[in-house]
Amino acid sequence: MPSAAPTGRYDFVVVANRLPVDASVDDDGNVSWTRSPGGLVTAMAPVMAAADGAWVGWGGAPDQEVEPFEVDGTELVPVMLTAEDLEKFYEGFSNDTLWPLYHDVISPPTFHRTWWEAYQRVNRRFAQAAADQAAEGATVWVHDYQLQLVPKMLRELRPDVRIGYFHHIPWPPLELFLQLPWRKQVVEGLLGADLVGFQRAGDASNFVRAVRRLTELTTRGQVITLSKNGRTERHVRAAAFPISIDSGTFDELARTPEVQKRAKEIRHELGDPDVLLLGVDRLDYTKGIRHRIKAYGELLHDGRLSTISTTLVQVASPSRENVDAYAQLRDDVEQLVGRINGDYGQVGHAPVQYLHQSFPMEEMAALYLAADVMLVTALRDGMNLVAKEYVAARSDDQGALVLSEFTGAADELTGAVLVNPHDIDGMKDAITYAVHMDPRESRKRMRRLRRRVLGHDVNAWSQEFLAVLTAVPRRDTHV
Ligand code: G6P
Repeated sequence: MPSAAPTGRYDFVVVANRLPVDASVDDDGNVSWTRSPGGLVTAMAPVMAAADGAWVGWGGAPDQEVEPFEVDGTELVPVMLTAEDLEKFYEGFSNDTLWPLYHDVISPPTFHRTWWEAYQRVNRRFAQAAADQAAEGATVWVHDYQLQLVPKMLRELRPDVRIGYFHHIPWPPLELFLQLPWRKQVVEGLLGADLVGFQRAGDASNFVRAVRRLTELTTRGQVITLSKNGRTERHVRAAAFPISIDSGTFDELARTPEVQKRAKEIRHELGDPDVLLLGVDRLDYTKGIRHRIKAYGELLHDGRLSTISTTLVQVASPSRENVDAYAQLRDDVEQLVGRINGDYGQVGHAPVQYLHQSFPMEEMAALYLAADVMLVTALRDGMNLVAKEYVAARSDDQGALVLSEFTGAADELTGAVLVNPHDIDGMKDAITYAVHMDPRESRKRMRRLRRRVLGHDVNAWSQEFLAVLTAVPRRDTHV
């Protein structure tokens, strides 16, 4: 089938809900953009530099019509979202339907037909923008649950391009996924890709089960065959590609004298506690923040941790504040923190230092270095990059990681102390164990963790994904 659409000029196109930049507005109202920190941006940078690359995404504010612009050699192509799209597509369908459904319905998902309409409308807009930018035979990499319909829509517009999709969050068990009224359309949307990547092997098999249940297609292992009139048309591969971080840069940053000095300062400012525990999360109900703080409060109550010489620093960065479940979570967490500090604090010492803020990478690295034990207790998490950042920062081979078995990271980070965050007693034991761990054991565990995290960085991740994707034979659209 000939491609009727005029082609764009980019050989490599990333499509993600957000553009990889943050806008800042000066006193005169001029907008300037700086590269946002973050895994995906770092992973794509070398690929963007090598190929002629464009990134299609939303600028982060509603009703902004911005022309494409260039940052660090990458063409950024803003997609406009109206205030209504923001409410129905972003806060609604993406973050109040799909997000809770895909995270084990920890919070009940809401199903609204008007949200679904907005999801289709906005996905079509992203697909069209990608189609306009991609050169003949280009590679297009679509990211995450906000854009699951884009692969099919894009293939219809541009059958000549290779399409990869990576799902950054969990893919739920079939029994939960089947609740979605538009489950078949979502699965068909993803099958527009040549390669569908997941964090864990279990996510990929959950997806293949959904394909088997909801379509008539043939599957063999993790390969799905699409046919037309009895003839094989193409194959879709589903596979795991666990994402990582820019481990080397993080490791180097944590070795700088400034960060090392700041780590000492942090401990000092906290009153030089004997034990410093750390939690770092987006303020999200999937992260198990309440479970963690409850366990900590009980340890103080039981006298298993000293109320005067222990501190838990909990960084909770603001997130999705217009979604009710997030506003409710904030109230719950803040009430719990207030109660613990009220019950066990003293003049000049609060057992929980709660920070509802985001911090630059340097400060995060210093916090990781300062902490004796890192607590990652998510109830469900696609990967959890905070766990990997903590490990990358610990070139001193010290510190201990308490890690939920319900994170993707738990499949890889076997040197961590694994916990079931629903089991408060088990978590209390694990925290106590990590706090009192023999230094020889913690060094051994940390070395093992570091081998994994430094040996498999985000660059390796994107290379592996793209190697499989580009091995897909290019379809000759002119025959
Ligand atoms: C998760 C998702 C991302 C998302 C990020 C921040 O990591 O997988 O797709 O961008 O959270 O959430 P936000 O709603 O602020 O984009």
